Amino acid sequence: MDTFITAAQQAKLQALAPYSNFRVGAALETAAGKIYAGCNIESSSYGLTCCAERVALFKALSEGEREFARLAVAADTEEFCTPCGACRQVLWDYGKNLEIICINKHGDQHTVELKNLLPEAFDDHLLKQR
Ligand code: THU
Repeated sequence: MDTFITAAQQAKLQALAPYSNFRVGAALETAAGKIYAGCNIESSSYGLTCCAERVALFKALSEGEREFARLAVAADTEEFCTPCGACRQVLWDYGKNLEIICINKHGDQHTVELKNLLPEAFDDHLLKQR
């Protein structure tokens, strides 16, 4: 089994999701092959919840990582769970066109490029045009 995929599935077990009971695990691989894992962390003030994808990304960024290759997202669903809209934007900001591998409850995998989840994305290239 790919340790990268396993890392996302293991991270899912750490999810703090008492309100939704929807557990998600993510694993972000750097260009150098290091893996940062994350799980969703919910708040009693629901809007403060942080998704597994952003937890993994923020862990990596805060350790000084800047170049990323791929992201795995694991959830206990029949269908593949893709990153939410907010995560897509932040992943694009810092990961650009990541390869995203979604893993369902059976361990099946579905791969998609971030540019196809966030077409015609807003980002810093527009900020530089004003
Ligand atoms: N969630 C994630 O962590 N990642 C996703 O891709 C979708 C949603 C979390 C947020 C919240 O804790 C729970 O799943 C239900 O939305």
